Amino acid sequence: MISLVGLPGSGKSTVGRQLARRLSLPFLDSDHLIEQRLGCSIREFFDREGEARFRDLESTVLDELTQGPSGVLSTGGGSVLRPINRSHLHERTQVVYLRSSPDEVFRRLRHDRTRPLLQVDDPLQRLRDLFAVRDPLYRETAHFVIETGRPSVATLVNMIVMQL
Ligand code: S3P
Repeated sequence: MISLVGLPGSGKSTVGRQLARRLSLPFLDSDHLIEQRLGCSIREFFDREGEARFRDLESTVLDELTQGPSGVLSTGGGSVLRPINRSHLHERTQVVYLRSSPDEVFRRLRHDRTRPLLQVDDPLQRLRDLFAVRDPLYRETAHFVIETGRPSVATLVNMIVMQL
């Protein structure tokens, strides 16, 4: 199993899909599975039940997925916040950190209304704060780091395949 970690908007789903196709593996998306189980969007669940309840469900789903059949797994951007998730990901899967700067992510997600954590007055500052907390956690969880800045999706996929 290969897992992708990184900030929201770092390209985990886009790169993950292409990587899965390249390796002829199924593409798995933990947020998608969580939404299937909830029967509503993560954003709605966040608003209704709060972040802690979401994190509980996220840990359950990650525990299952990382023990399941092999694939390319796109994780939620906050999956590394809990030590148990970090160790499950690191020990059971090969983890790639797609490392994007907060400014890069901001340019991509400016008009996106689906990310609950970015529905604030100053989303760029929010991304900078998230990056400050999470960059060390993504690094700790990952087996290798891919800087997303300039390369195309196809190039990023090649860079990952060369490191596997
Ligand atoms: C979150 C990122 C989201 C989703 C949830 C919380 C986060 O996933 O899991 O909204 O804490 O960064 P993406 O990274 O796919 O946007």
